Amino acid sequence: LSVCIFISTRKSWAGEGDLKNYVDVEFQPDGKHTRIGVGSKIIEGIREVGIDLQAPCGDRGVCGRCKVVLTEGGGLLNQPTGYELRAVTLSELRDGYRLACQCTASRPGSIVVAIPPESRIGHQRMVVQGLAPKLRPTPMVKKISLNFREGDFKRLRAVKADSELLTSALRRAGCSINSLSLEAMRALPDAMPRSGGSVTVAVWGGREALSVEAGDTSSRLFGFAVDIGTTKLAGYLVDLKSGRVLATSSLPNPQIAYGGDLISRIAYYSQSAENAGRLKSAVVNGVNRLIEDACRSAGVDASEIYDVTAVGNTAMHHIFFGISPKYVALSPFPVAVKSSFNLKAKELGLNVNPAAYLHSLPLIAGFVGADAVADILATEIYRFKGPSLLIDIGTNAEIVVGGREGLTCCSSPAGPAFEGAHIKHGMRASSGAIEAVWIDPDDLSVGYKTVDDVKPRGICGSGIIDAVAQMFKAGVLNRSGGIDRGVKSPRIRVVDGKPEFVVAWGGETEGGVDITITQDDVQEVLLAKAAIYTGVSVTLKRLGLKPRDIRRLYIAGAFGTYIDLTNSLILGIYPDIPFDRVRFVGNTAGSGARMTLLSKQVRVKAERIVDRARYIELAADPLFEKEFTDSIWLPHRDIELFPTVRKLLKGLGRL
Ligand code: FES
Repeated sequence: LSVCIFISTRKSWAGEGDLKNYVDVEFQPDGKHTRIGVGSKIIEGIREVGIDLQAPCGDRGVCGRCKVVLTEGGGLLNQPTGYELRAVTLSELRDGYRLACQCTASRPGSIVVAIPPESRIGHQRMVVQGLAPKLRPTPMVKKISLNFREGDFKRLRAVKADSELLTSALRRAGCSINSLSLEAMRALPDAMPRSGGSVTVAVWGGREALSVEAGDTSSRLFGFAVDIGTTKLAGYLVDLKSGRVLATSSLPNPQIAYGGDLISRIAYYSQSAENAGRLKSAVVNGVNRLIEDACRSAGVDASEIYDVTAVGNTAMHHIFFGISPKYVALSPFPVAVKSSFNLKAKELGLNVNPAAYLHSLPLIAGFVGADAVADILATEIYRFKGPSLLIDIGTNAEIVVGGREGLTCCSSPAGPAFEGAHIKHGMRASSGAIEAVWIDPDDLSVGYKTVDDVKPRGICGSGIIDAVAQMFKAGVLNRSGGIDRGVKSPRIRVVDGKPEFVVAWGGETEGGVDITITQDDVQEVLLAKAAIYTGVSVTLKRLGLKPRDIRRLYIAGAFGTYIDLTNSLILGIYPDIPFDRVRFVGNTAGSGARMTLLSKQVRVKAERIVDRARYIELAADPLFEKEFTDSIWLPHRDIELFPTVRKLLKGLGRL
């Protein structure tokens, strides 16, 4: 039936002449159609119709995540590329599997493409909550309700402009504005009372009348804070009078369709003006969806949002504002704009009050962005005596050490392994992802838990950390991360000359295939954890500090919320610090964005933090290489640095 409908629709699109250079594509099971030019890639059509396909490597053909199935018209495409021959098995090729980023329409006609569930981004578990200190609201916007008395007002209105009456009344109420927004001027004729009565003015920064509204609307004053993460967007609708969060909303960053990590996205952005526009629109549209969702659930009209704040890492920040991030990825990683700024939200296309402002938090450096500033604001580490350590774990880990005496920070490229990329059965933390693993050292039996408690589909970051740490604890891995082929267990086997460990047997899994941790997966995890540890270690050494000097360790970020403290210590992700000094603080980037929305003073603090922060360029530090090489071990080449793990291994007879 779908094919019949497709044919009739296709005929209505174009004449025969047009069809010479185009391929009509139908996507199943979505039932969406588009037309791509001969020479275009299938992935372009998928993006055009808005299907949520994974493409973490940014179309380079190396991640193998954008698999689609050509169910009709496969002969109209190019031959499989070398990348496809590496990522797609022979039997998959026979079944019509291709990589959407590699197959190009070579002849006109019609094709039908199925998008398998495992290639979709899917519904991800999102963490939007984070630690935030209590604040007394002092927002940039306030509403002032003015009451005009009938007799005077009528007389005055005959001789004075509405704007003059309004400005004088505001002055009498203690607010001397110096401008009215165009929207406020446009609203004046209808908003001003006919004879006497009230009118409400939203004033920004005590200077500009943003809007003029009929009657007393002073109780309805809202703002929106947004955290633009590489993998997710999180939004917060805030009542600016009470400081309460009325609704939160989140979604995967729609830019994932153009690349999973920052470098892929920067490369995609830099290729052409069209690509730059696509990435910018993707994030702006995503933020508009957050606003819409949050407003709907709180019963707020988006036009009642008068102020917006945004945080993000430097690349996300630049792309959101349409500033090229091209050089952020190139040494010496220059930042185009560092300080905070305000602009009209409508300039970016945000669907809020047309006169509302958008505030961008300041950045520290190329890879320590406004999200790190927000983390610092939310954890308040700048207030404490003695050093604290803050690690925000993402594809880049932002690391900050310091306190009242000063702050030193760096960024470490942890890579996407903890988000499931570059891991054979890795996936994001969505339904069916193995998120926790236990291995019995006696018989190597495995227990696991999946997101939503359904059959496993793959393994996500927290599960990968557990699996590798537990494999080490159980003696499956040696200290340099090698899988011990001598251990007798059906779970340890060799495939294509490389050993792997079976976490879940095919009979237990959704796709019927064994979910394994391969030797290559272990290597990816060790590189990721070594990057984070090295960042911490180099920063501590530069400050002359030892791990025991750290008074508090804050682990921020969505990923941090789900990791097991002991297993991550066994892995050596962070220094051996007593557990009672460790605190998981959730999405503090979002908390910091909310704080700047609620408080003018916090905006000033953010500037001070940036002024005082010292940045270490990790890759250029002479200590980096040796530290990194030593950190690739489990938990570290020098086990004495990890007394807790040492004791644990000794207890198990592993030392
Ligand atoms: S292989 Fe196609 S996006 Fe990575």
